[in-house]
Amino acid sequence: MSKTSKRTIFSGVQPSGTLHIGNYLGAISNWVKMQDEYNSIFCVVDYHAITVKQDPKELSRNILDVVKIYMASGISAGDGSAPGGSPEKSVIFQQSDVSAHTELAWILNCAAARVSDLNKMTQFKDKAGEEKENVSVGLYDYPILMAADILLYDTDLVPVGEDQKQHVELARVLARRFNSQYGKVFKVPGVEIKKEGARIMALDDPAKKMSKSASPASYIALTDTPDVAAKKIMRAVTDSGYDIKYDKKNKPAISNLLTIYSLITGEDIKKLEIKCERECSGYGDFKKKVAEALGEFLETFQKKYNSFEDDEVREILKNGAEKVRPVAEETLFMVKHKLGII
Ligand code: AMP
Ligand code: TRP
Repeated sequence: MSKTSKRTIFSGVQPSGTLHIGNYLGAISNWVKMQDEYNSIFCVVDYHAITVKQDPKELSRNILDVVKIYMASGISAGDGSAPGGSPEKSVIFQQSDVSAHTELAWILNCAAARVSDLNKMTQFKDKAGEEKENVSVGLYDYPILMAADILLYDTDLVPVGEDQKQHVELARVLARRFNSQYGKVFKVPGVEIKKEGARIMALDDPAKKMSKSASPASYIALTDTPDVAAKKIMRAVTDSGYDIKYDKKNKPAISNLLTIYSLITGEDIKKLEIKCERECSGYGDFKKKVAEALGEFLETFQKKYNSFEDDEVREILKNGAEKVRPVAEETLFMVKHKLGII
C-alpha cells in the first residue's frame, strides 16, 4: 500500500462471535460510505478477541466470517482478479498477520501508557465486572493494542460506534505523549461517530447497548434468518402508551426500533413516524413493519455473505497483510529509532 494524498481511515471488529445489526448500523455501514473518499483499512482484530477465552475452532471460523460480513456489507477488497469483481477500494487484513501491531503495543506500554490511563477505561470495568482481579492482563491492556493498530498507519479518522470513543481518545493521548517525549512520529487520529445508530440498544432492555455477549433475544445477528429476526422483533420490549414517536427519554424502546427501521430502509425517522401513525393501529403493527424491512435486508445481505468461499477470503487476508505490512513496519522503524533501539 503506497501512501496516497487521500486521508486514511482505520477500523476493526473482533472475531469473537456473532456480529449483529448494531455492529453493522453503528460501524460497518459507515465504513462502506467512507471507503470511496478515504484510503481505507479494515482489520480483523484477532489479538483483541483472545483477551477473553476463545474456542480455537470457532475463532478460526469467526476470522473468515468477519471478512465475509465486511464484504457482504459492501466493503470492496480483494485482488481485483475475480471476474466481475468490484474494484478494490479498501484493504482488509488480519491483525496477527502484521507483527508490528503487538510490537508497537509493547513499546507504547512502556514508553507512553500509564496505569492511570487504563484505570479510566469504562469498557474494562464493564467487561471485567466482579472478576476484575481474575481477567487476563490482555483485557486490561486491550486499549493499548488498539492504539497501536491506529497509530501504525498515520490514521486520520477512526470510524466506530460510541462505545469505542474513549479508546480512540486514549490513542490520541498516547500519540501526543510519545511525540512530545521522543519527537514527532505519530499523527493524532480523530474519531468519527455516526449521528444516528452509534448506539443500537438491546431489544430486551433499551437501557443496555445491543451486544453479542448478552442473550440472543437481545440482538439481531446478521446471520439470523428473517423468521428468527421477526420473532425477536415481535418479542422486543416496548414502552407505555400507544404512540409511535421518537423520544429517547420517554420512549427508549420505540425510539430504538424506529432508529433500526430508519437506518435499514434509509427513510427519515420523521417520515416513518407519519407513515406509522397512518398505517399502524398499535405497537404490534409497527413491529411487523420493522420485521418485514429487516427480513428484506437480511435476505439480501445473506445471499451476498453466502456467495464468498473460504479460500477467496484467505486470499483477501493474505493480500491485505502484504499491502499494509510495509507501512506498519516503516512507522515501527521510526519509533524504534526515536527510542534508540535502532
Ligand atoms: P465489537 O463487536 O465490540 O468488536 O464492535 C465492533 C464495532 O461495532 C465497533 O465500532 C463498535 O463501536 C460497534 N458497535 C458494537 N455494538 C454496537 C451497538 N450496539 N450500537 C452501535 N455500534 C456498535
Ligand atoms: N476495540 C474495538 C471493538 O471492540 C475493535 C478494534 C480494535 C478497533 N482495534 C481497533 C476499532 C482500531 C477501531 C480501530 O470494537
